[in-house]
Amino acid sequence: MVPGLSDGTVELAALAGDGDAAALVAGEDDEIARWLSGPSATLETAARHIDRCALDWVGDWFRPGTALTWGIRDAASGALAGTAEVQLSTADVEAGTANLAYGVFPSWRGRRYGARAVGLMCGWLATTTATQLAVVRVEPGNAASIRVAEQAGFARAGRSRGVAGAPMLRYVRVLR
Ligand SMILES: CC(C)(COP(=O)(O)OP(=O)(O)OC[C@H]1O[C@@H](n2cnc3c(N)ncnc32)[C@H](O)[C@@H]1OP(=O)(O)O)[C@@H](O)C(=O)NCCC(=O)NCCS
Repeated sequence: MVPGLSDGTVELAALAGDGDAAALVAGEDDEIARWLSGPSATLETAARHIDRCALDWVGDWFRPGTALTWGIRDAASGALAGTAEVQLSTADVEAGTANLAYGVFPSWRGRRYGARAVGLMCGWLATTTATQLAVVRVEPGNAASIRVAEQAGFARAGRSRGVAGAPMLRYVRVLR
């Protein structure tokens, strides 16, 4: 069961169905493809992604590679505005630390929904898991994502390595 989270403006809820698959495809721009998701999604790959997300929620949350993923929804309309995810165990992040990632579709940007989603995920981590620290790893050129991390209360804490060894800035927030 995917926990539903809300701050009254943004809701984090399960990704589900053909409508969300279509929204994932329509909402993917060059920024999302470049900084977050890689090669372009099709309706078929988006539907498979939604299925995989559902399986990750019912499986072992700490299995390496598991991503606990929510859809970011505009609370007023319920429209899918992006995605947010937590990894509780990743090979290149120390134990006890959760790795967070997010993307907001272009038509929903400019409302600080990313920072709201990160705030909701941090609250959930603090109340539901024993995770001590949340980390956001950002490529140095991704100014918008750096602002999101800062707005969500993260502070710069050195450098890290991302997929394929790319240098990443590391932002952290203490959860407890
Ligand atoms: C990062 C992302 C989620 C931010 O979207 P958002 O939550 O709607 O954020 P906003 O558009 O409200 O912008 C947040 C802040 O960043 C600033 N910002 C946005 N784009 C910027 C840019 N190119 N350069 C500098 N600052 C920028 C905004 O001015 C805003 O600051 P303000 O509120 O003080 O004015 C969105 O740009 C995105 O999906 N990017 C692609 C995926 C990605 O990079 N994910 C993160 C991987 S680590």
